[in-house]
Amino acid sequence: MTTRSVTDRLGGLAFGGDYNPEQWDEPVWKEDDELMRRARVNLATVGVFSWALLEPEEGRYDFAWLDAHIDRLHGNGVAVDLATPTASPPPWFTLAHPDALPVTPDGTRLTHGSRDTYCLTAPAYRSAARRIASALAERYGDHPALALWHVHNEYGTLCHCDHTAAAFRGWLRARHGSLDALNDTWGTAFWSQCYTSWEQVLPPRATQWHKNPGQALDFHRFWSDEIIAAYREQRDAIRVHSDRPVTTNLMLPGYQNVDLWSLARELDVVTSDHYPGSPGLDAAADTAFHADRTRSLADGSPWLLMEQGTSTVYDRDRVLAKEPGEMLRHTLGHIARGSEGALFFQWRQSRAGAEMWHSAMVPHAGPDSRIFREVTQVGDAIARLGELAGSTVSAPVAVLHDADAWWALSVDGLPSPDLGYHEALGQAHRALWDAGVTVDFAHPGQELGRYRLVIAPALFLMSDAGAENLRRYVEGGGTLLVQHAGGFVDDRLHARLGGYPAGPLREALGIRVEEYRPLRREERIALSDGSYGTVWSESLRSGNAETLAAYTQGMLTDRPALTRHRYGAGQGWYLSTRLNGAGYGALIHRLLDEAGAGPDTPGLPAGVEAVTRHAPDGRRWQVLINHGPDTVSLPEPAHDLLTGTTARDLPPGACAVLRKP
Ligand code: GAL
Repeated sequence: MTTRSVTDRLGGLAFGGDYNPEQWDEPVWKEDDELMRRARVNLATVGVFSWALLEPEEGRYDFAWLDAHIDRLHGNGVAVDLATPTASPPPWFTLAHPDALPVTPDGTRLTHGSRDTYCLTAPAYRSAARRIASALAERYGDHPALALWHVHNEYGTLCHCDHTAAAFRGWLRARHGSLDALNDTWGTAFWSQCYTSWEQVLPPRATQWHKNPGQALDFHRFWSDEIIAAYREQRDAIRVHSDRPVTTNLMLPGYQNVDLWSLARELDVVTSDHYPGSPGLDAAADTAFHADRTRSLADGSPWLLMEQGTSTVYDRDRVLAKEPGEMLRHTLGHIARGSEGALFFQWRQSRAGAEMWHSAMVPHAGPDSRIFREVTQVGDAIARLGELAGSTVSAPVAVLHDADAWWALSVDGLPSPDLGYHEALGQAHRALWDAGVTVDFAHPGQELGRYRLVIAPALFLMSDAGAENLRRYVEGGGTLLVQHAGGFVDDRLHARLGGYPAGPLREALGIRVEEYRPLRREERIALSDGSYGTVWSESLRSGNAETLAAYTQGMLTDRPALTRHRYGAGQGWYLSTRLNGAGYGALIHRLLDEAGAGPDTPGLPAGVEAVTRHAPDGRRWQVLINHGPDTVSLPEPAHDLLTGTTARDLPPGACAVLRKP
């Protein structure tokens, strides 16, 4: 029987990181042991990129070095998250199987010298991946150190080669059944694209102008299924020899070309990696965005942060350092929202190689450094939080996420390049985070009745079933906000005719969108309530809906911009432009009031993050993080697990984990 819990085996929350001892030698390994004890590391991810050492030539495995490291870790009280190394095939593999290298849309075949240099659909790659996963499982499947299997690393690399073309055709045949159906779905009657034999059908390779959008969407879906199939093959090969839980690390929000809902369902425990995209408070908000999404992918079950950086913030074209204290605040930001601990990439900073400047738990400067001192503080904090293991988080509000809608907004030929899918989800989540509200992400087709408020920021594509589900949600008493361009296309990427959005949603929202009017890059359009819109505007007719704000400019003057429709026992709101930050924040507050949803802990000042974790037996813990500049008095003093004393206030930058009565 596979146990899904990593923490049962660890006896508490997980703390550690990617451990690549093959970069070092004996004296360093000895120091690693001592420093891991000091930092209270209890889980190390081993072997992620070790293929070249594990299989130095095709079919010849060398496990002796790994045996020694795993035994050493075990002797030191550190459990192992053992990876299959399939994200980075060695050069001998490339030379033996050049057809297994990835090909870009313009036909360039990449070569080795980096990582992720494989094509997922190449038979030679797939069987080599299965073989090494199976060999590792046979050898280590019941090793007492083994706590978790880590298949691959951040699946996502795309390929457009001939193997891919053949596999894509097979997938299309199964999905569409006939060429007629494919031609109809892709709208090939336009631009003379009709296919008359399956061999003519290709992946969306470089072409003259806009690529066919239906082809692009189906390619994403196909690739997602291919990733899931590749993961399952390795997982199933492992399960023959091992009863330990199996995962692969997800990377949010947009890197992986995969439907994360479907992939996450295949994982025994959902794990994910997080590197904030901007510094300061934005990084804290991004941490919450990531953690809420991962918890939702895990269907509310506890999950595990597989990677973060001790001092890494990716800020467009440069990598910034974290400020003192942020390592703990980010860690607790994840744990507050359901993570069963925190792991880092990587334990010891490389002295050479592609990521030698990436932060690590033991930096180049060694243990006598701010970073390592903070690592030991984080390790100490996590060791004090063992009783949180297995507890969960509940949220009154859901933001809808569907990979189909994301992909539909990434095709060629859209009327605006600014309909950013993840930006829209981020804006919705940020406004709710600023309001102190815990957020789930949900799929538009799932049961939504437990949420008081549901927000659909970028559901450009909406299936008939999804639209009907949302209609029923409103009818049954829910409050729904659909934002601009919502439900404009169906799941074949065909426009909704007779006015947008999909019929059932028009009924619930009480509106019909007649015309879309994208805005210029810096353009603003003023609204009657003092807010303004950017990016997009629409001419819509409000049947039975009330107009809460109208446009005040141009041909849209006095036409509805924001509407509300009382429908059944609930309310359907529609926002036809992208509101500015303050305007959007005010709208979210209003919706929360109307829906009767509120913050996790009312009464806290802005900048203090609070999330409660609940155990099945009724115990509760409140995680508090003060991102603000002032000391905050706590409404109810309580025992703080981090200090072992009663916390009455929270200084700037400080955290507390309160055991609630
Ligand atoms: C992750 C990856 C790690 C490392 C890290 C650097 O996405 O899994 O191997 O490259 O990024 O931030």
